[in-house]
This record gives sequence, structure tokens and C-alpha cells, in this order.
Amino acid sequence: MKILGYGKSLPNKIVSNDDLSKLVETSDEWIIQRTGIRNRRISDVNTSVLASQAALEAINDAQIDKDDIDLIICATMTADNATPSVACLVQKELGLENATAFDINGACTGFIYALKVVEGLLKLNHKKALVIGSEVMSKVIDFTDRNTCILFGDGAGAIVVEKGEDAYFFTKSKGNFDVLYAEGTSLNTDLDVKEITGGFLYMDGREVFKFAIRAMEEAILKVLEEANLTIDDIDMIIPHQANQRIISNVAKRMKIDESKFFMNLEEYGNTSAASVAIALTEAKKQNVIKEKDKVILVGFGAGLTWGSTLIEI
Ligand code: ACO
Repeated sequence: MKILGYGKSLPNKIVSNDDLSKLVETSDEWIIQRTGIRNRRISDVNTSVLASQAALEAINDAQIDKDDIDLIICATMTADNATPSVACLVQKELGLENATAFDINGACTGFIYALKVVEGLLKLNHKKALVIGSEVMSKVIDFTDRNTCILFGDGAGAIVVEKGEDAYFFTKSKGNFDVLYAEGTSLNTDLDVKEITGGFLYMDGREVFKFAIRAMEEAILKVLEEANLTIDDIDMIIPHQANQRIISNVAKRMKIDESKFFMNLEEYGNTSAASVAIALTEAKKQNVIKEKDKVILVGFGAGLTWGSTLIEI
């Protein structure tokens, strides 16, 4: 897989830890110390709008004819609608008439799952793909629940890719409905005309924390094994931006210098499927990663899901 262009979209509205401490019993000091997060962005437009903005930036950055894009995959757990998909709405907004478009829900691992699917489809008959991670997490956050509302933010990241060097992958999931979930709509066996409502995100933070550390470590080791490389061959690790303490723990356990982990969670919090996509875009635009670098993207999330990919930039 070869990345041709990078893009991102972040809402203008910045919500600080102090802003949240007016809604729930918490403090800037507690949030920074336990998570490393200072600010997050909150959107007044839906997931497909952020996705379209990030996608347009990636297409312009790639300097390609948009009609060459024949595949659009959006990773999201906060789609605008049950149907059509966010990917189809991006297709409509940007007039990408030659593409097959669909969404993937792997929660915070979604962007890595999407890249794995794209790698496979580029080996079939697809030529150029738009891969997006986009979330408006604020739609599923209960802003009276201090366990969750301090962690999440909204945003989107996107890349344009074509066939290139082989990418390596490790992905896994473990069906679980206990530690991290947001319920969907209820059944309608009585054929009532009912109001359709969804549930807020629920999280057992301590359990997710323990899972996340093991999952990230396993995913990094497995993808290195798959590629027959060692950590010294890797220029940068771009992890899911959930919590600085999770990343620090992984670095310490694996004896990897923490500076090898790209982090931007301080400003955006956890943007779920968008997090790795935004971080990848920022790492490239800030020249933290450059052509030919070997980079590991690694994530974990609800499902439970986890995974990694090793790509050459
Ligand atoms: N402000 C102040 N106090 C708080 C807050 C808050 N925002 N949240 C919890 N507390 C309290 C708790 O009530 C608890 O009080 P108690 O001891 O009186 O019971 C105390 O702080 C310690 O709580 P812990 O849960 O042990 O705190 P911890 O150090 O584990 O940090 C956190 C909590 C930040 C949620 C951490 O567990 C974490 O980051 N977990 C992983 C979350 C994550 O990565 N989620 C990603 C999900 S990805 C996806 O797919 C959606």
C-alpha cells in the first residue's frame, strides 16, 4: 500500500477540562494526570461532513483526479444514519462517481480494520482508495458521566492510497458486551410506531485500561513478527490516542522509548476511529514521519477489537 495524500478535519469548538468541570465533578489536574488530555473538539456538523472535509484535503494533497478513486471506506461508530453509510454521503458530497463506498465499524480499531480491507481490495481490481476515520463521539456521550465525558472528542482523518509495498497486519476481536458499549435501537415485536432512540457509551475504565495495555503490546509484537522485523527497524509508532498513561505503560513494558510513540491526544482526546487517521496525517504534515519510514499503526476499542499494521510511508 502506498499513501498518496493525507487530510483531517477538526471542529472549531474547543472544550477544555475546565469547561467540563462545570458539568461534572472533576478537575483539570485530575484529567491531565490520569489521561494527558487538556482539550477536545466538539462538532456542530455530522460525521459525514467532517469525513468529507478530511477526504477533500487528502484528495487535494494526493494531487489526483477524483474520478480515479474507485473505493471509499469510512471507519466510524457514529454514522449520521443507519443507512446510507457515511462513505456513500462522502461520495455524494464530493461527486466521486466511480467508487464503491461502504462503512466499517471496528470502534477505535476501525481505521486499522479499514486499511486491512483496502489492502485486500487493492490486490483485487481496485486502483485508488479513500480511507477515512470519522467520528462525532459527542452524539453518544453522556455529559453527566465523568467516567466517559472527559475522554472523547470529535474529528476526522483521511488518506488516499494505491497499491504499493506490502503492508503487514495483525487484527483480532473478542466478542464482549460488558466493559465498553453503546446500545442501539430496541426491538419492535409489537409493531408499534415507536420513537427511535440510541444509548450512551458505557465504559468500565479500569477493565478497558488493563485490556488496552495487553492488546497494544500483543498487536505491536505480532505485526513485527509478521514482517520479520524488530522494533529497532521501526521509525515511529502511531497509537490510538486514548490515554497517555496507556501509551506510557506500553512503552515501559516493551522497553521502547516513549518518544517513538506519536501523540496528539492532549489537544483532541479520544476521537475513536478517527484518532489514528488524524495522528497519521499530523505526523506526516509535521515531518515526524517521511518517505520510506517504517511506521506501525496500533489501536484497540469496543467490541472488543484490537490490531496493528506496519506500513512504509
Ligand atoms: N474526575 C475525577 N474523578 C474521577 C473521574 C473524573 N473525571 N472519573 C473517575 N473518577 C474517580 C472515580 O470515581 C474513582 O473514585 P473512587 O476511588 O472514589 O471510586 C477514582 O477517580 C479512580 O477511578 P479509576 O477508574 O480507578 O481511575 P483511573 O485511574 O483508572 O482512570 C480512566 C480512569 C481515565 C477512565 C482510565 O481507567 C482509562 O483511561 N481507561 C481506559 C479508557 C479508554 O481507553 N477507553 C477507550 C475506549 S475506545 C472505544 O472503542 C470507544
